Amino acid sequence: MISKRLEDAINAQINAEMYSAYLYLSMAQYFESVGLKGFANWMTVQFQEEQFHAFKFIDYINERGGRVILKPIEQPKTEWNSPLEVMEDTLKHEEKVTSLINNLINLSMDEKDHMTTNFLQWYIAEQVEEESNDKEIIDKIKLVGDRGNGMFMLDKELGARVFTPPAKEA
Ligand code: FEO
Repeated sequence: MISKRLEDAINAQINAEMYSAYLYLSMAQYFESVGLKGFANWMTVQFQEEQFHAFKFIDYINERGGRVILKPIEQPKTEWNSPLEVMEDTLKHEEKVTSLINNLINLSMDEKDHMTTNFLQWYIAEQVEEESNDKEIIDKIKLVGDRGNGMFMLDKELGARVFTPPAKEA
């Protein structure tokens, strides 16, 4: 059975993942409002990925005999000045999530809960991918500029992203 300390910390992480989902859905709506449907699609897929992250934690608490407690989700930001600003916020947010996952790993080691330490490795690999995807898009926006033909092509590229549920096991 999972310790109360870890159960509480993972419950807090479920809330953080749901907030991430909500933030990315809000970003998708910003992109819709400025006519960038491809970027909006990319962010909507990101929203789905974050929900997947939350559900993976929910399943884990239940598998370990814990109790999932859902807390209110904070209202996300709604306005940005440019696509670049959105993607820079996204990267900053993911770096924060990475530090939250690192803290969870530290706690699981403190508690000598090897099952949880092992389980969390999946999230570490996922964070490497998320930060790298964000950096790639930031670089591309810087390369093509915020508008014009390059932006049109980039929007088209991001419009092709589809959600595929990641493998359940690392
Ligand atoms: Fe759930 Fe984007 O980390």
